[in-house]
Amino acid sequence: MYIYSMGHYWPETVLDNHFYSQLDIESDAQWIEDRVGIKTRRSVLSHESILDMRFGRATRQQLKDQGKIQTITDMSERSWQMARDRFPIVLDAIDTVIGGTSVPDDDIPSSACTIAAQIGMERVRAFDVTSACATFVVQCHVMRGLMKSGLTREGAIFCAERYTTRLDYSDRKNCILFGDGAIAASISADPKSGSLKVIDTMVESAPSGWEHIHMPDGRTFHQNGAAVQKFAVTKTIAAAQDILARNGLAAHDAQWFIGHQANLRMLNSAMERLGVPESKHLYNVDVRGNQGAAGAPTTLSQNWEKYKKGDYIVIAVVGAGLTWGSMLLQKQ
Ligand SMILES: CC(C)(COP(=O)(O)OP(=O)(O)OC[C@H]1O[C@@H](n2cnc3c(N)ncnc32)[C@H](O)[C@@H]1OP(=O)(O)O)[C@@H](O)C(=O)NCCC(=O)NCCS
Repeated sequence: MYIYSMGHYWPETVLDNHFYSQLDIESDAQWIEDRVGIKTRRSVLSHESILDMRFGRATRQQLKDQGKIQTITDMSERSWQMARDRFPIVLDAIDTVIGGTSVPDDDIPSSACTIAAQIGMERVRAFDVTSACATFVVQCHVMRGLMKSGLTREGAIFCAERYTTRLDYSDRKNCILFGDGAIAASISADPKSGSLKVIDTMVESAPSGWEHIHMPDGRTFHQNGAAVQKFAVTKTIAAAQDILARNGLAAHDAQWFIGHQANLRMLNSAMERLGVPESKHLYNVDVRGNQGAAGAPTTLSQNWEKYKKGDYIVIAVVGAGLTWGSMLLQKQ
């Protein structure tokens, strides 16, 4: 399986660390930068809408009804536009569309169907594969299986996140972490010029840990940050090492590493323990925040022009479930 084009999109509203001081939660801009390495992130909400949610002047549902929340479909269409600008994608050739988001526009139908309709893909099988922050790797895992079995030849993957609409803005530990973003990827069973070959994918879960990261139906995001921290670092390292080892490679053989964009300090610690130098570590959490599942693939897409023929790229993600996974890619 080959990823032959990608596009990414971030909404316009910029949230810097000083913004949170308006929320009356004693948030310290320096604490955020020092502890999580995030300086800014983007949101589908305006500053005013976030303040309205915080101080009880508007609910998420009211903002949605007033058209003040950008949709997953719209974010996905914009990222698809970038993917098409990068490579001439033949729409009619696509037979499978996999969407995925933790914060869908609606419970029903799948985001893949609304996105496919918006883009004008008519004769496709469209469905969602969602696994919190691991979604993109899980989507690629499923698509790879379909391609290997011959059930599909040409596909598209969409992964868009809007956690900023599902945060408790009185909770300073969590509300400062998240930003929104989206990607689109065009996939083929056949190589096309400049593609990234998906050499291998793996996904694992420890379901007994599901309560550590939870967004209950209709409620806001909650995590036990301290408990998750150790899991996030150890599984990022293990997932990267496993995918390399089972393909006969070591960390020094790969040119690029991308982790789950939750916390730059944690990512740096994982990279250091993997023996990955700063020059090989790609990330955007510092300026885009934790974009859930969209963080790793927006980083992959953002650096699209950087990869050279033969380069190996390792992506390792962790998230709610608890679930973790990794991918090994090689530039063709
Ligand atoms: C979330 C996370 C950044 C919190 O860091 P932490 O060191 O565990 O910090 P704590 O939550 O224990 O908070 C430490 C102190 O800083 C305070 N603090 C938290 N946010 C703050 C803010 N915005 N401004 C000022 N102080 C803040 C806390 O209130 C706490 O103070 P207290 O001890 O007086 O209560 C960190 O645990 C983490 O990144 N965990 C992993 C997350 C992850 O990978 N998730 C994956 C799925 S998305």
